[in-house]
Amino acid sequence: MRIAILGYGVVGGGVHALLRDGSLGMTVGRVLDRRVLPELGPLRTAKIRDILEDRSIDAVVEAIGGLHPALDFVHAALCAGKHVVTSNKEMVSHAYAELTNLASAHGVQLRFSASVGGGIPWLHNLLRTARGDRIRALRGIVNGTTNYILDAMGGGADFGDALARAQALGFAEADPTADLEGLDAQRKCAISASLAFGGAVAPDRVPALGIAAIRKADIEAFAARGLACRLMACAGAVAAGVYAYVEPTLVDAGSLEAQVKTNHNCIFLTAEALGDAAFYGQGAGRFPTAQNVVQDLLDIRDGLPASVPGTAPIPVRNGAISHRYYIRTRLPLPEGLAREAWGEGVATNPMSVAEAHALASRIRAEDAGAFFAGMGGGKQP
Ligand code: HSE
Repeated sequence: MRIAILGYGVVGGGVHALLRDGSLGMTVGRVLDRRVLPELGPLRTAKIRDILEDRSIDAVVEAIGGLHPALDFVHAALCAGKHVVTSNKEMVSHAYAELTNLASAHGVQLRFSASVGGGIPWLHNLLRTARGDRIRALRGIVNGTTNYILDAMGGGADFGDALARAQALGFAEADPTADLEGLDAQRKCAISASLAFGGAVAPDRVPALGIAAIRKADIEAFAARGLACRLMACAGAVAAGVYAYVEPTLVDAGSLEAQVKTNHNCIFLTAEALGDAAFYGQGAGRFPTAQNVVQDLLDIRDGLPASVPGTAPIPVRNGAISHRYYIRTRLPLPEGLAREAWGEGVATNPMSVAEAHALASRIRAEDAGAFFAGMGGGKQP
């Protein structure tokens, strides 16, 4: 099988390195990158046409990231009858139904196992569970950068220093706002929920709170109560739809979630027959992610059909679930909401996730330093 790689960055370069010796029976026939890369010799091109019109290329690995031009190139590759493998969570979450249906219409495969959980075989196993069981809920730490920061702050580190280290280690997105504001986790939540519940969950229907405003004082207030903070993506089945959201979440300091260290990811799945399962490992990084891309290529090479769950829109109903929140803001809270003082913040009475995220939007519009964390990610404190 001959492959073209679009984008020779962290993931694209990693895929090339894993395929280079030919031992997996696949050859890299072209690499598309805007940069001049002398080490690639004639393999490198800057023109997508060279790949689309090359009938010897069977599959395209999209590793450019972002929406454009990645989406345009993937669209064109599927229409040109080429299989596509991608780790691009922004593109997949944004165009899940469109690309899935396009691949089916052209009789080719679209695989994106590495778009959530980096190297962890999470989506692969999620699909296997979804096809033969009824999934109730999933929740997980799906962003390595924020986990690295929260873990380091739990050990006394400063936010800015921890972020700089995560960037230097190559976990953070080019613009780390996507990590810090929960948008990367939002995209991963939408993709996971779409596969789990057999339809399209749009990322902009998944409200996300991030950790950009967290302070040492918050972490200390949590530690004093035997709690740690983790950024969690949560989704589950409710009547006539799903709940789906991303928020900093307070977990017992002794819980499995709190033991997820550095840039690791851990995703928990609950299904009717399966019960509980957890998927833990490297959620980001060159070779973990690249090997998951290569696994998708091997499935295509071996002729395994891709599971294609439904693509009809699924409504998100976050009014259907409630839990308590920690809120720190200089603005007054609605009457009756606060239950007790926790350091510089308050712990609230239970409120629905829809209400909490709407309140957070209103408060953060006037107080950008406000911080919210949910208490619904497992054991209730
Ligand atoms: N920025 C992402 C993270 C990379 O930190 O998890 C992997 O998707």
